[in-house]
Amino acid sequence: MATQTIVILDFGSQYTQLIARRIREQNVFSVVLPCTVPLAEIEAVNPLGLILSGGPSSVYDADAPAADPRILELGVPVLGICYGLHFIVHHLGGKVLSAPKREYGHAEVQIEDSSALLFAGLPQVLQVWMSHGDEAAQLPSGFRRVAVSANALAAIESVERRIWAVQFHPEVHHTPLGSKLIKNFIFGICGAAGDWTPAHFIESTVKTIRERVGEGHVICGLSGGVDSSVAAVLVHKAIGSQLTCIFVNNGVLRKNEFASVQKNLREKLGLNIVAVDASQRFLAQLAGIIDPETKRKRIGAEFIAVFDDEATRIAKKTGGVDWLVQGTLYPDVIESSSVKGPSQTIKSHHNVGGLPLNMKLKLIEPLRDLFKDEVRRIGRDLGMPEDILGRQPFPGPGLAVRILGEVTPERVALLQEADEIVIAEIKSAGLYNSIWQSFAVLLPVMSVGVMGDQRTYAYTAAVRAVHSEDGMTADWTPLPYEVLKSISSRIVNEVRGINRVVYDITSKPPGTIEWE
Ligand code: XMP
Repeated sequence: MATQTIVILDFGSQYTQLIARRIREQNVFSVVLPCTVPLAEIEAVNPLGLILSGGPSSVYDADAPAADPRILELGVPVLGICYGLHFIVHHLGGKVLSAPKREYGHAEVQIEDSSALLFAGLPQVLQVWMSHGDEAAQLPSGFRRVAVSANALAAIESVERRIWAVQFHPEVHHTPLGSKLIKNFIFGICGAAGDWTPAHFIESTVKTIRERVGEGHVICGLSGGVDSSVAAVLVHKAIGSQLTCIFVNNGVLRKNEFASVQKNLREKLGLNIVAVDASQRFLAQLAGIIDPETKRKRIGAEFIAVFDDEATRIAKKTGGVDWLVQGTLYPDVIESSSVKGPSQTIKSHHNVGGLPLNMKLKLIEPLRDLFKDEVRRIGRDLGMPEDILGRQPFPGPGLAVRILGEVTPERVALLQEADEIVIAEIKSAGLYNSIWQSFAVLLPVMSVGVMGDQRTYAYTAAVRAVHSEDGMTADWTPLPYEVLKSISSRIVNEVRGINRVVYDITSKPPGTIEWE
């Protein structure tokens, strides 16, 4: 069964990904394509419906995004949003004008015709979010106005041409009933079945992987994080023992992580894992290094070298390796040029599986259609444990970028202890899942303290906890005093070598989440 797909053409709005998410929340698959995509590529998807996103341009700008106007003649239902509405009006012979008054923010929309399909079941007056300069001044023939705001026309339709459009943004939270409108479009107008469930995704992905891989052998780098683990479990479900996972201890993992990830994935989920303890190799590379970027580069290069050694060994054993699994997610796909086709770029920075140097491996990216929360849903359906699925993000260079100054085995051990306490206390306060990242940082600052009758002279730990949507911006989290108190007293009492704890109250920007 082919997957029913709603295609979203991206005209540059900051909300485009949100449209995709709102649709997928209804168990309907949706993809974002650049608005410049050739018509044939849209037709190849055989879309159930088409959504034209908003965008920052005016249709009259010299560099206005150039979509093929024939998208309006495919006979597939179209929903234009903001700029999408202007595009429709402009290309079908209506008139768009620069509005005398720019409308931005909350607005009230009056539905003029309650028989309009898009507004079925919605109240006469809607609270919405507006963000536009231009507005439609004259409608193309065959269109009628179905809603207005105080300053502008708010919705139009041509049932005959199967085109609908709204001036406001139904995809954002500030339009509280927006998802009802989106549901009206995808179910009421496009006739979606709503069967794109985790079970459906798993079944079709497993089938595709099986067909593509055939008898080939596949390797996968595990980081212990959500993405690489779910990707590995999916591929394992498809091809079983033809998959070998490589999990490298780079010496800067969290306390007990090397063992616990193996336990979870090997013993509980049956993955075939080659676990390589390369801590000594990594720590030797880090000796004497203070500069954060040099730390990153050395860890990255060493990782590729270790991975390459192991992949070569596996290839000798299995008679060759043909494929590499990567945990690439949809936001990476949308943001990179790879959205244009299968010529994916390897992101060695964020994905753990650096490409082995001498092998020409083909890529399997089973998560490239998914957002992070969807990956978690899939993982749950695959029966994966919550302690893998709910894990906060952890940087590839690990604790090395949380130890300011030189990384030594002693400092790694100190930070592992402090980090474990921070996580344990935040978990026991029930806050772990609502915080984006929480961790300790080891500062090379020594200060005087007193323990019992003894004077101490030891390191400082900084505690950091932030809320974030995507890691691009972040707000420091006001942890309850009680939690801060127990973290501080446990670290100072239990970690010999740290006698002072401070709390980082810097947001991003201007700070970054990590200290290095
Ligand atoms: P910053 O510190 O730039 O971090 O605010 C943003 C997000 O990215 C993670 N991060 C990294 N992840 N390799 C990674 O795989 C890195 O070198 C790296 N540096 C930062 C960080 O943990 C946060 O989630």
